[in-house]
Amino acid sequence: MDMAAAGEKIVGLTAWDHLSATYCDTSGAEIVLVGDSLSMTIRGDENTLGIDLDDMIYHAKMVTKGVKRALVIADMPFMSYQVSAEQALVSAGRFVKEAGVEAVKIEGGKGMAETASRIIDAGIPVMGHIGLKPQSVNQMGGMKVQGRSLDEAQSIIDDARSLERSGIFALVLECVPAELSSVVTESVRVPTIGIGAGLGCDGQIQVTADLLGLLEKDPPKHAKKYLDSSRLIKSALRGYVDDVKTSKFPKKSNSFQAVSEVMDALRDKNL
Ligand code: KIV
Repeated sequence: MDMAAAGEKIVGLTAWDHLSATYCDTSGAEIVLVGDSLSMTIRGDENTLGIDLDDMIYHAKMVTKGVKRALVIADMPFMSYQVSAEQALVSAGRFVKEAGVEAVKIEGGKGMAETASRIIDAGIPVMGHIGLKPQSVNQMGGMKVQGRSLDEAQSIIDDARSLERSGIFALVLECVPAELSSVVTESVRVPTIGIGAGLGCDGQIQVTADLLGLLEKDPPKHAKKYLDSSRLIKSALRGYVDDVKTSKFPKKSNSFQAVSEVMDALRDKNL
């Protein structure tokens, strides 16, 4: 992406089906990610570990149908790429062939560099994802900010450089201190896309359900609710239920009228 070099911020949103993809695409965002966070926001899972490749391909197919403009990237789900580089290549290939995505994202640093370059060698662009890696939630002891100690911060910079050498085209930095993401951004040439990583990144990505306030609980600290959909949806559906119970819906304008002669003949025959 040349946008980072030109100082233009790159914007990413997540989508999970055709409808959400259409909204994300028309927003002007450059990236539409079929993020495995959909397992939590849409499926109601506790974390992203349970969703599998077939499920992600199912969602990715709906998303690619809704996107005309933006770059569609799919998250490789947990255990669809960690076993071996061969497994990763087969999984990435399925996303491209079956769902029509243009790139895949994998979580992990140095240890994933070889896997990334194997996928890239096959002609599939790869986005990296370091800092907070939700698929490693058990190893990290929770969804915590990463890179606060000197060792952790250095390791994040080393991860970024190693992934850059592998040939990734962009790098997600999730939940790292803003000052550290600025250093990472200066240390690599690939664009950094932050989520909870401050303003110093080349771009930002957010989980769309958080921005739209689709979930009942408050969005995480790094997100901003641009719309209180949950409240609006609940009030709209309550209105519908009330209208039906009180016979205010459907109105004549919501109904279809019969031909009166037909109805007269029908009554004569039946009553
Ligand atoms: O799954 C997801 O939504 C993501 C974003 C947090 C970048 O990976």
